[in-house]
Amino acid sequence: MTPFLRLKDQHLFVRVFEQAPIGMALLSSDGSFRANSALCSMLGYSESELMNLTIPFVTHPDDLEVDLGLWTKLVQGEIDSYQIEKRYIHKYGDIKWGLLNVTVERDQQGISENDVFISQIADITDQKIREKKIRETEKLTLVGELAAGIAHEIRNPLTSLRGFVQLYQDEDVDGKNKLRHDVMLAEIDRINEIVSELLVLAKPGNETYKLGNIAEILNHVVTLFEGQASLCNILISKELGSNLPAIYCHSSLKQVFINILKNAFESMPNGGQVVIKVKEIDAQLQICFIDQGYGIPQHQLEKIFQPFYTTKETGTGLGLMVSQRIIENHKGKIRIESETGKGTIVEITLPLR
Ligand SMILES: Nc1ncnc2c1ncn2[C@@H]1O[C@H](COP(=O)(O)OP(=O)(O)OP(=O)(O)O)[C@@H](O)[C@H]1O
Ligand SMILES: [Mg+2]
Repeated sequence: MTPFLRLKDQHLFVRVFEQAPIGMALLSSDGSFRANSALCSMLGYSESELMNLTIPFVTHPDDLEVDLGLWTKLVQGEIDSYQIEKRYIHKYGDIKWGLLNVTVERDQQGISENDVFISQIADITDQKIREKKIRETEKLTLVGELAAGIAHEIRNPLTSLRGFVQLYQDEDVDGKNKLRHDVMLAEIDRINEIVSELLVLAKPGNETYKLGNIAEILNHVVTLFEGQASLCNILISKELGSNLPAIYCHSSLKQVFINILKNAFESMPNGGQVVIKVKEIDAQLQICFIDQGYGIPQHQLEKIFQPFYTTKETGTGLGLMVSQRIIENHKGKIRIESETGKGTIVEITLPLR
């Protein structure tokens, strides 16, 4: 190669390296390091900052072992390249997914100090987020269909049981067994109610939405919790805005408030306060439940809406998932903010239509 060509190649290479839309880094055993601007912006560091960081520092702990294992094999000459999907940690803590390809240009004289390692990293974060969403939706649909299927199967035999109990009641002319029959009917009705709630998980569509008064619904739900509140030393207070508009809602909305209050209660084993605030903002109704419980650590926050995710010994991990589904059926949003040791805020917004 003439020196001219070498110079031209170098210019070409620098341009390819700098302009590439994917992240690239060069590392040689003597410690020299170059990173292109795509890699710098993907990870949030300047080139000089990156130079002083180690692979473990910018790698998600769960992906470190695989990456370092392959890296070691590459350095020791067992393999010449590898490709993996791994998570990086951005300067500000976000997780970035990368498709990493590492190859080595070995020194022709076999001096390993002169080997150059070439890493190329395509940012596949958006794709990974999309995939995760699809998986979650599939899981949700499956759980929903399962629950709705079971609920449906339970309702039919329940109807005949109820019919027979009523028959016994009619035959019990002197009313000797009235109490027993009443209890049995009430319990059957309770099962029916629970099962109907599960049916909410199935596709919306045949649900009837009626104009309802949110304050009334909340008052009713709070009444249900009064007994438990005094037992657990919990105070529920309400701050309801004046002239709250009626909204279109389904009977399942009550279940959402029950689930949220139940969680708030369970987070305060030593008592405390739950504040429920309702106000109208920007053509929406905002309902906040603020507790003083143990809170939710950051790493759990992203999982709490997943089906069967629970941190409780006797929890099923369906409460929030069902609630989210119901709120989405109402075209609303549910958002949770939390600070460990301080408490949790569940914010629901429902559109006024
Ligand atoms: N107000 C809260 N305070 C603290 N942690 C909460 C709160 N609300 C939810 N969580 C956390 O979110 C998880 C999921 O809640 P979710 O209501 O879906 O299920 P669960 O309460 O565990 O079980 P269940 O199906 O009986 O409601 C809980 O296990 C808990 O770790
Ligand atoms: Mg719950």
